[in-house]
Formats: sequence, C-alpha cells, structure tokens
Amino acid sequence: MPYISPALNVMSAAARKAGRGLIRDFGELENLQVSLKGPADFVSTADERTERILIEELSRARPGYGFLGEEGGAREGPDKTHRFIVDPIDGTTNFLHGIPIFAISIALEREGQLVSAVVYNPVVDEMYLAEKGHGAYLNNKRLRVAARKSLAESLFATGAPFMGRPGHARFLAEIKAVMGRSSGIRRCGAASLDLAGVASGRFDGFWERGLNQWDMAAGILLVREAGGIVTDLEGGPRALDAGQVLAANESLHPQLLKLLTEAGDEG
Ligand code: 2AM
Ligand code: CA
Repeated sequence: MPYISPALNVMSAAARKAGRGLIRDFGELENLQVSLKGPADFVSTADERTERILIEELSRARPGYGFLGEEGGAREGPDKTHRFIVDPIDGTTNFLHGIPIFAISIALEREGQLVSAVVYNPVVDEMYLAEKGHGAYLNNKRLRVAARKSLAESLFATGAPFMGRPGHARFLAEIKAVMGRSSGIRRCGAASLDLAGVASGRFDGFWERGLNQWDMAAGILLVREAGGIVTDLEGGPRALDAGQVLAANESLHPQLLKLLTEAGDEG
C-alpha cells in the first residue's frame, strides 16, 4: 500500500470529488458538440468550477497554504512555506473534443520543493500518487519507470507547440530525429498524463517545451519517485521554472537529451 501523508490524503480526496463533476461535464459535452461556440464556453465553465471545488476542498483542510492555479493565478496564503499547484483540467483540448485523455493535477510544494503529487484521470479512474521519499503509485500499485536501455525499443511521448506558440521548426527537427531512432512517438495532449506515463513505464521518455508549472509539477514528482530523471531540455535542474521538461530513465535520459540537442542545433 502507498504511504499516504495527511496532505496527500486531502489532495486525492479533492481530486476524486472534483473528478465526479468533471465526468458529468464530459458526458454533457456530447450534447454540445453540434454548436460551435457551445462547447468552448461550457469547457471554460467546467474548468473554473473544477478549480473552485479543488480550492474549496484544499483550503478547508489547509487554510493557510498558497495556491498557483491555471484559472485563478497565484494566491499567497499566510503560510509562506506551502503552496498547492493546481491544474483543474490538464488536456483541455482533449476534453473539449470528447477525448478521454485529461486529468486533474495537484502538487504540493514545501519550501520550494515538490513533496506530494496527485494526477487523476476520472474517466478511467486512474489515480497517480507520489510522496517525496515514499515512491509513486497508480491505484495502490507501486510504479517504476521502464527499464529499457536502447532508443530503438523505446516509445516516447511529446507535446507539439500549437497555434501562436514559437518553436515549430525546432519541434519538427526533434521529432524527425527521434522517429528515426525509436519505436515511436505519441502526442496525447496532457502533459501531466505524459509524465505519469513515464512514471508507470508506459512511455520510456517525454519531452515538451512551453509548459506552465501546473502542467508539470505533480508529474515531475511522480517520475522522480518512480526512479526516473527529470531535467529541463539543457539537462539542468530548472524544468519547472524554464517551462520545459525531459523525463526518462537513467539510461535513456542522456541518450534522448543528446538526440534532441543535436536535432535542435541542426534544425
Ligand atoms: P491544458 O490542457 O491545461 O491547457 C499539451 O501540449 C500541454 O500543453 C497540456 O498539458 C496542455 O494543458 C497545454 N496546453 C495549453 N494550451 C494548449 C492548446 N491550445 N492546445 C494543446 N495543449 C495546450
Ligand atoms: Ca495543463
């Protein structure tokens, strides 16, 4: 069984409660797909409502803690040492299109360090939990990153820059390099679940640029607690601040970093 700290218990209960609402909203969406404006408005309302539920639940149990959220921005609490980093729907575009690949992501930072993490996909009822120093779990099963050592047998996840974002040419050079040397690439559209996928060994690695802290914070702790390496795309420790991430096991991380760096230099 996982070690569940009191804070992690509060976080997973909040995610389950908010998840029930999200499943209802996701079901409702089917009726709205025919109207062009309908779904987008509906999804932003669902996003805001989900964040409100999470903040209500978390702040009832931990009244002094600060928040960083996708919808509500940053809020300092009287307790300056603790902060929740919350993404109510990671994978909003999937949610909007009726694709069941989205998650609620909640991380807890203590004195600037990630200490607890929840990533919850309510549709498939997959609850990923991690506590610093106590491992990562999926529905009570201990997680370990994949053991593969060669690029040729590895499956990688990534995220593509979308409309209005920079770096399209570099991204194309990177996927060209990686698809030529690996078993394949997936682009699923929810960074928290991509990182959870690395933690559980479904993916051998993941990289993406242009992310926000709430997309990555919980997933980063999941990977680390599953024995993986997480850095920015220069191989340094600043993934969260730099908004970019490279996650893989110990053998593949340096190989993928080299491949991406060389591709970027050429691209
Ligand atoms: P979001 O769904 O919470 O916005 C996937 O590339 C990552 O980028 C996701 O974690 C997603 O988080 C974020 N993202 C932000 N805007 C996006 C967009 N317009 N299309 C796809 N992903 C987006
Ligand atoms: Ca997100």
